[in-house]
Amino acid sequence: MKHSLAFYQTDSTAPPSILADLPVITDVGELDQFDGYFCFEPKDANQELHFYAKLDGHATGFSLDFTQGTIAWRRSHGGGRKQQIAKACGLKHNWQPSILDATGGLGRDASELRNLGCRLRIIERSPYVAALLQDAIARAANHPETQELFGQDFELYQGQASELIPKLSSEQQPDIIYLDPMFPPRNKSAAVKKEMRLVKLLVGEDPDADELLPLALEHAKYRVVVKRPSYAPYLNQQKPSMSIESKANRFDVYVKQAIPN
Ligand SMILES: C[S@@+](CC[C@H](N)C(=O)[O-])C[C@H]1O[C@@H](n2cnc3c(N)ncnc32)[C@H](O)[C@@H]1O
Repeated sequence: MKHSLAFYQTDSTAPPSILADLPVITDVGELDQFDGYFCFEPKDANQELHFYAKLDGHATGFSLDFTQGTIAWRRSHGGGRKQQIAKACGLKHNWQPSILDATGGLGRDASELRNLGCRLRIIERSPYVAALLQDAIARAANHPETQELFGQDFELYQGQASELIPKLSSEQQPDIIYLDPMFPPRNKSAAVKKEMRLVKLLVGEDPDADELLPLALEHAKYRVVVKRPSYAPYLNQQKPSMSIESKANRFDVYVKQAIPN
């Protein structure tokens, strides 16, 4: 289902170019006509892009911030290369692979992998999710504590993975392609996190998810890693070389060749 969205302009700050197609609303009274809206809100010395929509009758919103919260906590206390995601990506010794995260979403996994020393390219097809990501990356790249991580080797591309991946040059071939397409939650009750419900409203389902696996296998150098909920079947019904279980998820690993020693 397509939702009607707007950009609510509260001061002279124009919408980010990715959102240039949205109607710009300056009168708060008009926002009720839309299912959701983006706006900038001041945060410290910056403007932070937020998305708001009505969930269960209440206006609910979120923004992305790689400088604070879970992501920042994990940067200083995280499980390092012993984490399942690190094992799935074969991160051992000082290997710092280039990873193409072809289903960027909110950038949580990508920023975790960047924390672990990997170089990241991220593809996100939804211009709405990409706008939130782009905003968070720009702020993190300017923040003294996260500048080093997000100011380099962390690039976002807005578009379809199926169109962008085949355009990579041989120098740009990623060591690993990482996939985490949407999968319907088993429990559709209120327990499903609000943020995920808002993202779902922005991107809908990923009905073509299966098609990503053969494409990724063709273009990754060493392996493809697919994150799935523990209860989900294999992507494209294709059995992986191995699976690594974490609390609620499973990382299915498709090995193309052994990673360098
Ligand atoms: C479950 S979310 C990914 C969450 C992400 N791993 C994280 O840590 O935040 C899936 C995202 O992949 C994007 N996506 C799905 N298929 C895609 C494709 N073919 N090309 C680009 N983006 C895609 C969706 O728009 C959605 O934002």
